Amino acid sequence: MSTARSHWSTRFAFILAAVGSAVGLGNLWKFPYMAGANGGGAFVLIYLLCIAAVGVPIFIAELYIGQKGQKNAVASFEATHEKNTPWRCIGFMGLASAFIILSFYSVVGGWILDFSFKSIFNQFAGKSDEEDKGFLGALFESPWTQVGWHFVFMTGTVGIVLGGVRNGIEKWNKILMPTLFALLGVLFIYSFTLSGFSQSISFLFSPDTSKLTAAGVLEAVGHSFFTLSLGMGAIITYGSYLKKKEGLAKIAITVAFLDTLVALIAGVVIFSVVFTHGMEPGGGPTLLFQTLPVLFSKMTGGYILAVAFFLLVAFAAFSSSVSLLEVAVAYWVETKKKDRVRTTLLIGIVIFGIGVLSALSTNVLSDVKIFKFTFFDLFDKLTSSIFLPLGGVLISLFYGWVLGPKAIEESLSLGKKPSLMKIGLLWTTRVLAPVAVMIVLVKGVMDF
Ligand code: TRP
Repeated sequence: MSTARSHWSTRFAFILAAVGSAVGLGNLWKFPYMAGANGGGAFVLIYLLCIAAVGVPIFIAELYIGQKGQKNAVASFEATHEKNTPWRCIGFMGLASAFIILSFYSVVGGWILDFSFKSIFNQFAGKSDEEDKGFLGALFESPWTQVGWHFVFMTGTVGIVLGGVRNGIEKWNKILMPTLFALLGVLFIYSFTLSGFSQSISFLFSPDTSKLTAAGVLEAVGHSFFTLSLGMGAIITYGSYLKKKEGLAKIAITVAFLDTLVALIAGVVIFSVVFTHGMEPGGGPTLLFQTLPVLFSKMTGGYILAVAFFLLVAFAAFSSSVSLLEVAVAYWVETKKKDRVRTTLLIGIVIFGIGVLSALSTNVLSDVKIFKFTFFDLFDKLTSSIFLPLGGVLISLFYGWVLGPKAIEESLSLGKKPSLMKIGLLWTTRVLAPVAVMIVLVKGVMDF
């Protein structure tokens, strides 16, 4: 995208870009460990409900605002409503979220790069389970290695956004996203042979509500926003590169479906390993990094699979991180008329700087706590559990009440005749989604 207003080449390319944004570390790294830490099935159930009842409608709303406004995440609110509308503050909060999320996302992206590197040099093979589980801990203790990989990841993200989302990401997405799906399929089939497979299925799919806390519910709601890239204008920005009217509901459902599928398959694979090897399901953020090396070191063809897998996860992370960076770049280039190259570099440097705080949270700064959280946890919690749900509620209200029935008709391209879908979408975005998310949000913030 050399100028801010070029467009995706085809509708398919757009869907891939949106799937690329949605499918990322949220699915492969975050979802499994959050489900594990919150007791499994009940968390998964709430998460699925949120994707369907809140995520899809808000996805449609963001797509519509972007496509209709044809502007960045701040200016699209003005373009669809009126100049200087207070609703554009949603866009400003989105910009803040983009900086904060990308800053810690890039640190985790760095862990993935480190593991890709380790897998290329065959370091997982021939080790005991304990040794394989120890790699992330060792990385955590080394400030320089972590900051270094974080730098590499940020440089990659900046490079892709500079090179143009359309010529870079769009082309790579076409090859790598389907490959990631295929590879996950292979791991999924392999997981059938593990003795922990059936326990994994029952852990993830038989809800035991007694294990769920209010904080867990908020995490599930927040994660449904995070995983679909909602609540901060990423989908508004991507939607603004979408040309004519398209059936937005179909796009939203397709993206949500694929995103959920990836998360669930990743969960089944990871918990099959967990239960086969007697690991702890509530292992937290280290879960992916402790289970998969153990799995790969034992599989035939494990070397190739490990290399392919970690590189593809890295790619999935890049196709998400560019969507975060693009939100900020699009705003400064378009609204503030800044030079695209300089803006991208400058924002990249600032985000790298903020991210250093997260990279040091597991070592030098591990004792620095703000509201009892390290920087890393604080940035994650603040955005996933507060900014994104709040942004989502406001976007929903803007779409349902301010833009109203006409926008809904256009989004669904069903014409004027009344239909159940129209009424459903109208009242979901006007009342159901905002009220449900607000209740959870208030409860969650009180527990903060
Ligand atoms: N959805 C991505 C993931 O699951 C992360 C992401 C990309 C994101 N863009 C976003 C999260 C915008 C919140 C908002 O890994």
